[in-house]
Amino acid sequence: MVAIKDTKQTTNTTRLTLQTVEIAPDTTAIRCLDWDRDRFDIEFGLQNGTTYNSFIIQGEKLALVDTSHAKFRQLYLELLTGLIDPAQLDYLIISHTEPDHSGLVKDVLKLAPQVTVVGAKVAIKFLESMVHQPFEHQIVKNGDRLDLGGGHELEFVSAPNLHWPDTIFTYDYLTQILYTCDAFGMHYCDEPTFDEDLELIEADYQYYYDCLMKPNARSVLAAIKRMGKLELATIATGHGPLLQYHRAELVDRYQQWSQAQTKTETFVALFYSEDYGYSDDLARAIAQGIAKTGVAVELVDWNNTEPQFVRELVSGAAGLVMGMPTQSDTEAHAILSTILAAAHGKQAIGLFESGGGEDEPIYPLRNQFQEIGLTEAFEPILVKESPNRAIEQVCDEAGTDLGQWLTRDRSVRQIKCIDSGLQKALGRISNGLYIITATKGDISSAMVASWVMQASLSPLGIAIAVAKDRAIESFLQMGDRFVLNVLEEDNYQHIIRHFLKRFPPGADRFEGIDTVPASNGSPIIADSLAYAECEVQSRLECSDHWIVYSNVQAGRVAKLDALTAVHHRKIGNHY
Ligand SMILES: Cc1cc2nc3c(=O)[nH]c(=O)nc-3n(C[C@H](O)[C@H](O)[C@H](O)COP(=O)(O)O)c2cc1C
Repeated sequence: MVAIKDTKQTTNTTRLTLQTVEIAPDTTAIRCLDWDRDRFDIEFGLQNGTTYNSFIIQGEKLALVDTSHAKFRQLYLELLTGLIDPAQLDYLIISHTEPDHSGLVKDVLKLAPQVTVVGAKVAIKFLESMVHQPFEHQIVKNGDRLDLGGGHELEFVSAPNLHWPDTIFTYDYLTQILYTCDAFGMHYCDEPTFDEDLELIEADYQYYYDCLMKPNARSVLAAIKRMGKLELATIATGHGPLLQYHRAELVDRYQQWSQAQTKTETFVALFYSEDYGYSDDLARAIAQGIAKTGVAVELVDWNNTEPQFVRELVSGAAGLVMGMPTQSDTEAHAILSTILAAAHGKQAIGLFESGGGEDEPIYPLRNQFQEIGLTEAFEPILVKESPNRAIEQVCDEAGTDLGQWLTRDRSVRQIKCIDSGLQKALGRISNGLYIITATKGDISSAMVASWVMQASLSPLGIAIAVAKDRAIESFLQMGDRFVLNVLEEDNYQHIIRHFLKRFPPGADRFEGIDTVPASNGSPIIADSLAYAECEVQSRLECSDHWIVYSNVQAGRVAKLDALTAVHHRKIGNHY
């Protein structure tokens, strides 16, 4: 029997209501119902609002699983403090750090400074930079357990990329509830707490899978495999109804959709060690760079896999990336022999050191792969210090280089298949010529751009189309600052030539170029006609590009009577 209590607040513009439900012994769901939300982060339309679900588990110890969206701050915190005494809260489990679930972590930490935050290593790292204050924490990995007492023994299931890199599921052995946050969820807002009516929700369930989970179908299958040994009664999702009545059917649909998706996709098998050196941080940065090119990545822990699985995976992979395991790791060495036996000459390869101090030497292995005939997509990445932004950028760009090599035929085919009349018509769209420059911390990047336009008057704003696999893309996230350098007619060729060179991962793109720092820290190219200092306000996903909309905060013109360089094209299938 479930006990339901509703708390409603309606404002002029949006309806926000709360629901608390006893979903199992000592287990309460707090469902924040956002009836009118019609846009979600990646800009897909919502038809039925959404919910943000958070859970209280009361064993001998008291745990809260996830929080809520910041728009529920007052409602959620009032309700929570009515249900529990925050001073008694022992654990705050973070399934992942996306703001719609962790938007109130800072508030909960204020009310419960004694609480231990439990999450995956990456989640704790993300949280540290989100809340800017020290907090007690416990890092958990796949298979780790946490005993709350009273029978509530929790086990954590690693589920990276569903749909954030830091995702973990939490399983309660007493109630057989698996808390999955985004996975198996849907943007669907209604009073029923559970999935009684499949027909009503199945379209939203599939739409949500297509938008959020399908790009990571391999990770979905890996997570379903890890869940396999758990007896499930309920899947407590972070969005929409909890899955109980049609749980098995709905999990099965995820499995079928993911299997169909992975059958045809190009993918890279990336081997790393969860527990050795900086292997996992570097692996994630390389995986992110590969994913920018639309190539899938299967992450495999050297110490948590089997030869049969590796043999099949490697023979189907278009590329291989390997973080060196330790020299004394016999388990990893057995897997390495399997990889060498299954690898073939059509594949691309990339190697990186794990930075643990006793890495397997990288160059002899590189030679072995080259003898088999694999193409090296990036030079071995040698790590001498703990990963900083510069090393992560090298890894990101190296991953992108590998992905671009694997998709080179596809890109040429796509360009060729545009109708030639249409190509010529589109080619009549002309723009100016610009260099976008950006500095983040102590690293900088730059790119030649022509798909630039003014996009607003008040406040002044511009929009730039940036290909998803550009190196500078990671410098153009929300809130990032950059400079738009406007090039001058008849005085731009040397600049363009320089920035169109093929730079190796992490290379200094400004060597030999005169620059002065703008007040936002990014380089102004001394030879440019004008510059504008910008701050990213929003990003719109447009197929193979991001439209990056930014406010313009300062700017100057060097020569008042000179003209902007214009880029006239003949055809519209490239810049
Ligand atoms: C005339 C010209 C205009 C370009 N405009 C854009 C643009 O607006 N957006 C974009 O993403 N790339 C644009 N490019 C492509 C990039 O400048 C260039 O290929 C890129 O810097 C190399 O990729 P990387 O920086 O990721 O290594 C343009 C290239 C040329 C030659």
